[in-house]
Amino acid sequence: MATRQLTVIDSLAIRPPDRPRRLSPAPGLGEFATDDLAMPRFHVWTLGCQMNQSDSEEMAGALLAAGCTEAPSMEAADLIVINSCAIRETAEAKIIGRQGYLARLRETNPALRVVLAGCAVRTANRERLARRYPSVDLFLRPDEEPELVARLGLAGPTAPGPMLPDEAAPVADALPSVRADAVTGGRIARRSGIQAWLPIIYGCDKTCTYCIVPFSRGPERSRPFDDVVGEARRLASAGYREVTLLGQNVNSYGHDLAPEPRFAHVRRTRELGRRIDLEGRPDIAELLRAIDGIRTADGVPAIPRLRFITSHPWDLGDRLIAAMAECPSVCEHLHLPVQSGSDAVLRRMGRQYSVTSYLDLVERLRAAVPGIALSTDVIVGFCGETEEQFGETLALLERVRFDTVFAAAFSPRPGTPAARLPDDVPPAEKRRRLNELLALQERIGWERNLAWVGRTTEVLVDGIDRPRSHDHGEDAAGGEAAPAHLPPLGPGEVRLGGRNRENRLVHLAGSPDLVGRLVGVRVVHAGPYSLTGVRVGTDGAPGSRHDPAAAV
Ligand code: SAM
Ligand code: SF4
Ligand code: F3S
Repeated sequence: MATRQLTVIDSLAIRPPDRPRRLSPAPGLGEFATDDLAMPRFHVWTLGCQMNQSDSEEMAGALLAAGCTEAPSMEAADLIVINSCAIRETAEAKIIGRQGYLARLRETNPALRVVLAGCAVRTANRERLARRYPSVDLFLRPDEEPELVARLGLAGPTAPGPMLPDEAAPVADALPSVRADAVTGGRIARRSGIQAWLPIIYGCDKTCTYCIVPFSRGPERSRPFDDVVGEARRLASAGYREVTLLGQNVNSYGHDLAPEPRFAHVRRTRELGRRIDLEGRPDIAELLRAIDGIRTADGVPAIPRLRFITSHPWDLGDRLIAAMAECPSVCEHLHLPVQSGSDAVLRRMGRQYSVTSYLDLVERLRAAVPGIALSTDVIVGFCGETEEQFGETLALLERVRFDTVFAAAFSPRPGTPAARLPDDVPPAEKRRRLNELLALQERIGWERNLAWVGRTTEVLVDGIDRPRSHDHGEDAAGGEAAPAHLPPLGPGEVRLGGRNRENRLVHLAGSPDLVGRLVGVRVVHAGPYSLTGVRVGTDGAPGSRHDPAAAV
């Protein structure tokens, strides 16, 4: 059976077809999937954040629903979808670096088509994109991703899915309803049967001067409250153990939705140069409570673990803190990007909070949710960052004692406000600062991990660790000796990995059928980045929820 030749409906399709293409008669009017043509095998390569992972699940789901099959690798695919990230130059460089490889793949498979989707694609730079990514046939901005199937000419006339480009006013506004259709139609190819992403708000209204996201993903658009809760119900029925609500700034969820009498008790305001009254609109606290309220017959949360990411410190209010404290399913972990420990740098970054207000927030969180683990993002070497200002960031890390810090050197992004400021910290100095910060955090993270030793914690086992040579009896033959802290494997046991509610990575030994289960684990060893423990129970094992001893 011949492989279906993919058409590409794009005004900027930059490469002439290798063989005559059967172009669809009009943009968006797809072909029938006929029996004599095999639908393409696709492979999705995802870079970037959780939002991209979630978007990739949607694109893969749409391709599967159209009749395509998934290929295990790029080499085995007729269609490669690259879901790109543009947060730093290195993220884009990864894709540019693959162009030669993609060109070689095309030599062996002339039917191969390559789609570049995601944050590296912005209307303003399409011409430039075509020059930068010569192996790409079709570019799709994040808000255009729902058009993937139609633009490849794969949509049958009865296929559900995207609107014609012409009729799609601002397509970005369609994302929430496209998601709702995909959910009800079962067209989300979720990568895990244990943990699920649940987008609640698209885009970002913030103006952090270094950040490309508002340009690549556009303004905020919240999904309707009932759609989000409905998707959570489906996940609960499907047995998901953990759900993470997603958005660039989940704390501003709901401000763009219509007020409703049922949310009359929600009284809040938003400061955007002026005070905006948000009374009567749902917020993330309402969402957490509603999802936490989905209960089993025994009255326990049907989804035992609920997380949300990312929280902008400016928008994190008392209503959310109270919901975190009162909802048993909400995990004792918060990712709260601080970016810098210097007020002057925060001002240049346009972050809208001061170090003092951030510290106050941390205090309120720790008081309300004892033992809460905190992680953060830091940018070093931002425009004009002096040695002293960098020192203030180190001091902040010492003071807050985050569990995890994701740090990166500032990378100017074309088109952002910061790209007009002098990028005056030399690359070698950025590297030095980054290394110094990471070394400091390694010590702090390790100290915090050591405080877990001897305690019992609840772990959601999410996979089998890659086997190591010492697990196959190679020690005697001179192979790698088992580290002393690794408990020996019993009969039928493998090494498993998972996370506790505080998001610490925990290794343990056990039967493979523990994957997907919540187990009690006594921690016997702590490294800088993970814990090792022994199993002491199964589902319903003692959790660490609000265990005062957890306040390390
Ligand atoms: N929305 C989140 C927030 O409020 O911080 C994070 C979004 S961004 C996808 C993830 C992280 O990338 C940011 O927190 C920031 O630390 C980092 N980042 C963003 N732009 C950057 C740039 N131009 N250079 C280096 N790091 C950057
Ligand atoms: Fe970027 Fe700031 Fe929006 Fe986060 S809040 S996505 S850092 S603009
Ligand atoms: Fe990257 Fe876009 Fe996420 S720029 S970090 S993939 S929102």
